[in-house]
Amino acid sequence: MWISRFGLGAGDYILDPFCGMGTTLIASGCRGIPAVGIDRLPVAAFLAEALQMFFHIRPGQLRETFQRLLEQVRRTAPAHVATDVAIMKVAFPAETLLALRRWKAAIDRLKAPLREVFLLLFFSVLEPCSYTSKDGQFLRLRRDKLPADPEVMLRKKVEQAEQDLHRIGELGWTSNFSPFRVVLEDARTIHSGWLQRPPTVIITSPPYANRYDYTRTYSLELCFHFVRDFAELRDLRHQLLRSHIESRVSRCEGIPHPAVGEVVEYLSAREKTLNNPRIPAMLTAYFVDMQKAIKRWRDVLAPSARVALVVDNVRFAGQLLPVDLVLSDMAEQEGFIIEEIIVARYKGNSSQQMGRYGRLPVRESVVVWRKPP
Ligand SMILES: C[S@@+](CC[C@H](N)C(=O)[O-])C[C@H]1O[C@@H](n2cnc3c(N)ncnc32)[C@H](O)[C@@H]1O
Repeated sequence: MWISRFGLGAGDYILDPFCGMGTTLIASGCRGIPAVGIDRLPVAAFLAEALQMFFHIRPGQLRETFQRLLEQVRRTAPAHVATDVAIMKVAFPAETLLALRRWKAAIDRLKAPLREVFLLLFFSVLEPCSYTSKDGQFLRLRRDKLPADPEVMLRKKVEQAEQDLHRIGELGWTSNFSPFRVVLEDARTIHSGWLQRPPTVIITSPPYANRYDYTRTYSLELCFHFVRDFAELRDLRHQLLRSHIESRVSRCEGIPHPAVGEVVEYLSAREKTLNNPRIPAMLTAYFVDMQKAIKRWRDVLAPSARVALVVDNVRFAGQLLPVDLVLSDMAEQEGFIIEEIIVARYKGNSSQQMGRYGRLPVRESVVVWRKPP
């Protein structure tokens, strides 16, 4: 939507500094617009990159490869996984975990781009094969769930992917596709060396200030491929933007905006009513980090570049924090011009908040800024 709304074309260069699984990048690539993505979470950077590898696969190739894997999988020694991470001890039935580790080892032996594409399909079956479900910002353990069989699920994913390949061919995306680059780095320290040239636009959705911990949501994928053990997983958590409850604030980090100060003070005085006492620290850390990111955008963007940011406002202990307005104010202090703040939708509160503090829908907005010419 933002690509057409901004009238972007092949002369533009799109940056998504929190690219996740690459939605913006794929949309840009299919329209022939050069783009670059950044994400500090290895599974996100991997998936975004792997998505475009589908364009190098011919129809039928995934089905053939699946058949070959099927012959090898029982003879393959199981791959290493980070079994010392608590969720890995309870997420799968023992036999399923063993089968998944064998599939993983067999897939690891494939060559690029089939290896990347099959890893992507493999990651997509972990949740259905487990007792877990991704639920907003959490990975919930659901003992009532019946985990699927890895072979059945993978076969299903391969068939779906074959159909997608067919559709991609029909839509003619392959011929116009503009490949994008994904950088596994921290958006708070972005510098021009990661970019081909100054981006003319940012389209992104940063983590929300609402206890999002991507190392938990994606812990199964991380434990199967990207971290060797719990220590590595924890280190990674502390390299992400501090939108999560384990965020640490150092003594030298002050409150970055008066509205944040007011809310943090209010919540700190009511610590006992919060469902987690670390929420005030998380909010401080979150805005310090976003301020750093905004400063970097000011430095690397081309003159007159636009920024479209999807953000969620938050409410804790009945206290609303208008994230869209605070970030826009910070951007203005860094020299950006605020063009629009568009309400995307209103979200209801949790029933707990509603019962205690009354109904107050919370905005999800798109903020649009422009760097001066
Ligand atoms: C709301 S999600 C983005 C979703 C994305 N628009 C998509 O369609 O998949 C935010 C992303 O920010 C990433 N992230 C968190 N901290 C980061 C950091 N310091 N630098 C870069 N990316 C980070 C997370 O890993 C996550 O993928």
